[in-house]
Amino acid sequence: KIYSASTTAPVNIATLKYWGKRDTKLNLPTNSSISVTLSQDDLRTLTTASAADFFQSDKLWLDGKEESLEGPRLVACLSELRALRKALEDANPEFPPLSKYHLHIISENNFPTAAGLASSAAGFAALVRAIANLYDLHQSPEDLSRIARQGSGSACRSMFGGYVAWEMGQEADGSDSRAVQIATQEAWPDMKAAILVISASKKETSSTLGMQTTVNTSTLFKYRAEVVVPQRFKEMSKAIVNKDFETFGKLTMIDSNQFHAVCLDSSPPVFYMNDTSRLVIGLIEKFNKIHDRVVAAYTFDAGPNAVLYYLERDEPIVLGLLKAAVPEVDGWDKKSYTASIAPTV
Ligand code: DP6
Repeated sequence: KIYSASTTAPVNIATLKYWGKRDTKLNLPTNSSISVTLSQDDLRTLTTASAADFFQSDKLWLDGKEESLEGPRLVACLSELRALRKALEDANPEFPPLSKYHLHIISENNFPTAAGLASSAAGFAALVRAIANLYDLHQSPEDLSRIARQGSGSACRSMFGGYVAWEMGQEADGSDSRAVQIATQEAWPDMKAAILVISASKKETSSTLGMQTTVNTSTLFKYRAEVVVPQRFKEMSKAIVNKDFETFGKLTMIDSNQFHAVCLDSSPPVFYMNDTSRLVIGLIEKFNKIHDRVVAAYTFDAGPNAVLYYLERDEPIVLGLLKAAVPEVDGWDKKSYTASIAPTV
């Protein structure tokens, strides 16, 4: 008999960036972060986890291609989930011994994986949830976020819809480093995101390596993590609760820029944005200036692709601007997605 469970998980895009670990094994961050979860109608990972006593080994397929399951992050997630299942079996001897069986995991994205669109966040969130469902675990999203965090830091935030904080926590064992919801999608439903795929090729420096370089070498980084982010975290949380787009948008843009500044301040320097990314920044800055308000806020993760946040009522002018500008932009592969905000996942 094969036991199976399927689930989906959404993508999240940070508006206050996670950049730096204080513990690389447990993925404990040097600062708290904030993100918005995008609707699964638009972007999502679909994962099926199966267990059977005749499976010979643990196996994983990503978008049809077999991948290694030996990485320490995957091993950490699997062994935590297996331990929880084992405890459940000990308490309920009639349950099938799934904790002893090997797992086959099949995962696919409905967006280009290589495009660096937070695929690891949705990927690990879906993997943890699919196995939790298979194992009949009833851990809260907050508890599951602690497990997903060990797969990829940003994955912990994909356990919730709406507006999400990852609280860095203080404990050495990571027990208080987990995601919590700041506001539901229903509380501020008219937010939208546009994703501009400037390059679909894989990033040159992984986030994991990039952030370690920054932690070890950047002098600006300490100031960001210890002074700037704690204050910005409060201001951005407040802007979200008050549905204050002007403040939310300004903070989102300066935080993206500061994240890329500490990357440049690292040795060797880490570059994620390219000329087209900078052109988009210039375009949006000018556009907001002409309108005398923040109409759209840009943010860039560890790659050149832009994500714009804006309010639904401004969609015609934001998409109009992109349409007008796109043919002028060299090196832009003209793919873009728009997404709503995810309700509770
Ligand atoms: C720039 O979560 O991919 O997107 O924990 O090493 O897997 P690991 O890193 P990852 O880093 C994301 C960095 C970021 C900012 C963010 O999402 O907060």
